Amino acid sequence: MTHSTRYGERIDAYVDRNIVMELVRVTEAAAMASAEYIGTGDKKGADQAATDAMRRALNCLDIDGTIVIGEGERDEAPMLYIGEKVGTGTGMKIDIAVDPLEGTDVCARGAENSISVIAAAEHGKFLHAPDVYMEKLALGAGYDISKFDLDMPADAVVREVARQKGVPVNRVMVCMLDRERHQPLMAGVRKAGARIKLIGDGDVAGAIAAVMPDSGIDVLLGSGGAPEGVLAAAALRCMGGNILGRLVFKNDAQIERAQSMGVRDPKQTFTTTDMASGEVMFAATGVTSGTFLQGVTEIPGGCTSHSLVMRSKTGTIRKIETFHRDSKFAEMMKAAS
Ligand code: FBP
Repeated sequence: MTHSTRYGERIDAYVDRNIVMELVRVTEAAAMASAEYIGTGDKKGADQAATDAMRRALNCLDIDGTIVIGEGERDEAPMLYIGEKVGTGTGMKIDIAVDPLEGTDVCARGAENSISVIAAAEHGKFLHAPDVYMEKLALGAGYDISKFDLDMPADAVVREVARQKGVPVNRVMVCMLDRERHQPLMAGVRKAGARIKLIGDGDVAGAIAAVMPDSGIDVLLGSGGAPEGVLAAAALRCMGGNILGRLVFKNDAQIERAQSMGVRDPKQTFTTTDMASGEVMFAATGVTSGTFLQGVTEIPGGCTSHSLVMRSKTGTIRKIETFHRDSKFAEMMKAAS
């Protein structure tokens, strides 16, 4: 039944079960666990702590979940592997994409931009992406994505961004992973007169920043992990932006692997909805501060975390700042074990 208030229909939409509000507790748990490793140089420890905490928190939820983007294949990842069932097995049947610690290296170095990420969709709606690179181009909602493609030279991309934004090209800011392989892209962007924000790691955050109006970033370019491309697509479905992605293969074995996971055309350019369709939910919590989220910060009695929580059905974007009281959190984790 629809209420008669101006926001009546919205209120009705709120009545359904919004599990993203439960998923954010999962990323909070993973972020806090890995935050203990910030700056320790222990990449493995940070990733393991995030993965353990995420899995433990996920298994408390009343969902019938299957990991489709996770820590790897069953034989190489003991936890949150592709195909692992998570949750109590009751409730919504959903597919789940995770990166318990996106930006493992930056967390261990104590640098910027590591986050804990989860996305959920109805069964069968995420691209099953193999662990290869993906060429990416991500843009905010105001752009006509049909004017872009992944074969466009970088200088043409930034000129088109400037044209559609209605600004001179030197006002365009490109976000890119700081990698040797991106030298030709960087040269193209700079040749056109645009500027570049290089990030050490974390292109899920980079793609989200490209869509956030107040981030100062207009477009994400370059190649990064394909699983991260799917996570970025989930976020952008909720925010209204667009990402184009194309898998990059080093050999035939990788192509065969992709095909066995359901990729029919290895040369396909995937759109946002090719990678994440149907109703999508997304939650991320900052581990170290970055382009759009503050990291976990210790304060007397506990710590604070900052999260972004979104779902495509309503387009709602929540920014949640949480105070985690040390004494209470310890009790909660003990009870769940
Ligand atoms: P991890 O969380 O696995 O460390 O990934 C960090 C990351 O920077 C991703 O954001 C990005 O997609 C990928 O690595 C890029 O890979 P590479 O470091 O090999 O360039």
